[in-house]
Amino acid sequence: MSFKTSKVVVVGAGNVGANTAYSIINQGICGEVVLIDVNKEKAYAEALDMQHAMYFLNRNINIHAGDYGECKDADIVIITAAAPMPKDSNSRLEMLAPSMNIIKSIVTSVMESGFNGIFIVVSNPVDIMTYYVQKLSKLPANHVIGSGTALDTARVCCKLAQTYDLDAKSVEAFVIGEHGDTETMAWESATIGGKHLADVLSDNSERSSDITKEKLLDWSKKSGWEIFTRKGNTCYGIAASTTAIVKSILFNENRILPVSVKLNGEYGIKDLYFSVPTILNADGAKEIVEIRLRDEEAKELAHSAEVIRSFYKDLNI
Ligand code: LAC
Repeated sequence: MSFKTSKVVVVGAGNVGANTAYSIINQGICGEVVLIDVNKEKAYAEALDMQHAMYFLNRNINIHAGDYGECKDADIVIITAAAPMPKDSNSRLEMLAPSMNIIKSIVTSVMESGFNGIFIVVSNPVDIMTYYVQKLSKLPANHVIGSGTALDTARVCCKLAQTYDLDAKSVEAFVIGEHGDTETMAWESATIGGKHLADVLSDNSERSSDITKEKLLDWSKKSGWEIFTRKGNTCYGIAASTTAIVKSILFNENRILPVSVKLNGEYGIKDLYFSVPTILNADGAKEIVEIRLRDEEAKELAHSAEVIRSFYKDLNI
């Protein structure tokens, strides 16, 4: 007897791709993982290394290197490939021009296989790339999702958790908008253990000197660069956040995560991808959650949308 197990293809076997694959097999959330990279030797070596790790992990997963034909029956294809980030770069937006052709050729090859699953786009600038992938693939918008600000949200929740000696999972504070400099935070709806963040601050004023919306957002925006300038890449946080998105889809969890999705009038924005809290399940981005925003946050979100939209003309689609 044979039955179909869930299959995830990871395109790009660099730091982000390899760590995403490793995070997925470590958590044992699917039956098969395929690594694809232009550098076939690298994909082969990463997969072989992970096969050896399997002896010590909880679930046997068929991990191997492959080619685009493997996408035909994949449930999820994760795109992590991109041009190398220039060393002196300080904006993810600079990655657009050098990575566009790479993304286009990946999407073309994936679609030629007959793929009809869900894309998760991780390559930066992720919001613009996710829009691009949706346009190129013509898959339904709810089946094309960007990793977006799930990671930024984790960074802010970790910071708050450290400040108040709590588990970060007890903090709910969404970073929304662009995964980048124009992102904002939904302060109004942020809670810790159901308690409004503003009340937590005033009841714990001795610990709260570092906690303002501006400082938290600054932390969120700078975190990636704190890591990048010291080790040349970020990988574990993005790998873990992408794995959480994969898990929500494959396990039909209906988990709410801020991910890059196509807005269709929500928050007053149309035909644009960026992050807002979204219910994720087996059908991908099932539903966008509209949370209460302060007027200034709604304005910041609109500005973020404007900045992202200004790059769409460069995509030539
Ligand atoms: C980061 C990369 C994934 O923020 O943009 O770590």
